[in-house]
Amino acid sequence: MTQAPVTAGTPYGTIPPASPLPQRRPVSLPRLAQMREAGEKITMVTAYDATFAAVADAAGVECILVGDSLGMVCQGLHSTVGVSLQDMCYHTASVARGLHRVQGTAWLIADMPYGSYAESREQAMRSACELMQAGAHMVKLEGGGWTAPTVQFLVERGVPVCAHLGLTPQTVHALGGYRVQGKSDEGAATLRRHALELQDAGASMLVLEMVPAQLSRELTAELPHCHTIGIGAGSGTAGQVLVLHDMLGVNLGKMARFVHNFMADAGSVKGAFEAYVQAVKNGSFPDDSKHAW
Ligand code: KIV
Repeated sequence: MTQAPVTAGTPYGTIPPASPLPQRRPVSLPRLAQMREAGEKITMVTAYDATFAAVADAAGVECILVGDSLGMVCQGLHSTVGVSLQDMCYHTASVARGLHRVQGTAWLIADMPYGSYAESREQAMRSACELMQAGAHMVKLEGGGWTAPTVQFLVERGVPVCAHLGLTPQTVHALGGYRVQGKSDEGAATLRRHALELQDAGASMLVLEMVPAQLSRELTAELPHCHTIGIGAGSGTAGQVLVLHDMLGVNLGKMARFVHNFMADAGSVKGAFEAYVQAVKNGSFPDDSKHAW
């Protein structure tokens, strides 16, 4: 028996019909490892709601991050510090429903917000469980050194983990602002040590934010089991991530130098996602000549 497509209108708009068959194999950790092995770049964007997530998936983006950047772009906060676990679960569930509705195949990562994993490994596990139950396939947490035992605890209990080093927005006040990290020899050595510890602890992905391009290229070569995903970290990483609002050119604040507005020439949001995927895969984004650190 064939299933009737869900096309009914709602007070909020038309529900997109479920596609008859998935357009690609579901993205999984083995699939990401295969892509890395084959030299294919991994693409990631942030999304916070059902519709944008579904469109990004349909455009071929492999990984969707429900970032705690939602504090700034959705909630109007000045930093990610005010985002709660409840907020993250709400947006993760919305994105997961959006992907499910269109038989999406993207890998869904949810940020563990500030204060949801620092107290103890048990607290981290409880927070991770809530995000996984909301629909995440993987959780992301910021920082190195003290986070490695937490990452190991989660991974041993079946929670895939993405780490995040370099500029870690949850600790912006301790870092003294949104600055490039790992520029000094000492800073680079600490970042390298933390990255290797996180790989040993079982992190299978690592976001590198605002890190010198040369350092992130070297780290990518040194981390065969942990896929580096750069943002303001040059072109040498295994993949790239951008914040949705930045890549669509709807950021209210000052646009970072490394960001590109993919909407400018696209004509549609899906077209902007497709242009981003193409540019990352063919190596034209990011442009290292615009990446001055
Ligand atoms: O919260 C977020 O959007 C992020 C990205 C900047 C990687 O962590």
